[in-house]
Amino acid sequence: MMPLHLKRVAYPVLIAVLAVAGAALITTPKTASVAFAEAAPADLFAPVAAVLRHPRCMNCHPRDDRPRQGDDRHEHLQNIVRGEDNMGFVNARCNSCHRDENNDFSRVPGAPNWHLAPLSMGWHGLGDSELCTALKDETKNGGKNVAALVQHMKSDALVLWGWKPGGTRAPVSTPHPQFMKELKAWADAGAPCPAAKP
Ligand code: HEC
Ligand code: HEC
Repeated sequence: MMPLHLKRVAYPVLIAVLAVAGAALITTPKTASVAFAEAAPADLFAPVAAVLRHPRCMNCHPRDDRPRQGDDRHEHLQNIVRGEDNMGFVNARCNSCHRDENNDFSRVPGAPNWHLAPLSMGWHGLGDSELCTALKDETKNGGKNVAALVQHMKSDALVLWGWKPGGTRAPVSTPHPQFMKELKAWADAGAPCPAAKP
């Protein structure tokens, strides 16, 4: 609690500050709306980033040679590594354990052609701006233009696995139809990337 004698001073000062700020808002509508218009398109990427950052996606998109597991993205047990073709190393090939479907007895998740995303498609730790730029970079993403990216996220088996991950794993939080709407809104606006944070 503020002592009474301070309140007597503080409230008039507060009111004066609010009045000045209010007047500033009213007299500068142009600057305010320009700032809003500039901020709006970049925000279209935020809901897309929220899906890409979900552990069901990120666990296969590291920026090193180790797939991750679980919601805490711990390193894959059994010392599993990428290998030259992203399919595992010598006798620890991804598909020796991961088959075409989830195995609810062994808890091993599965989808056709299970393997790690190439290093150039690694996303761990990227901010929204970098993530957006990397996602769209055709020298890194396997030559996909924006339409092809949308198509990949609409129908690719490894992507869709994120919504039916089996076992007790949590699916990607945004339902897939809602994600498609958000993705298309971003793509239709010209796939704008948010500005890099200084
Ligand atoms: C089992 C591993 C695995 C999972 C899980 C996975 N991906 Fe991928 N992802 C890959 C592989 C492998 C490629 C490369 C595919 C290719 O080039 O044909 C890839 C490529 C991509 C690409 C194109 C590359 C780029 O950088 O733009 C996008 C987009 C993508 N994944 C999105 C997702 C999303 C969204 C999820 C989660 C809902 C997800 N992935 C989950 C393995 C995975
Ligand atoms: C020796 C068997 C084995 C091999 C080989 C193997 N995995 Fe796994 N993997 C598992 C098991 C078991 C789980 C489930 C762990 C759990 O949820 O308790 C798992 C889980 C995962 C997950 C976690 C999914 C999630 O979001 O929690 C990813 C990603 C993954 N593996 C990728 C790979 C990749 C990529 C390769 C090849 C480079 C590979 N694994 C090789 C057995 C294996």
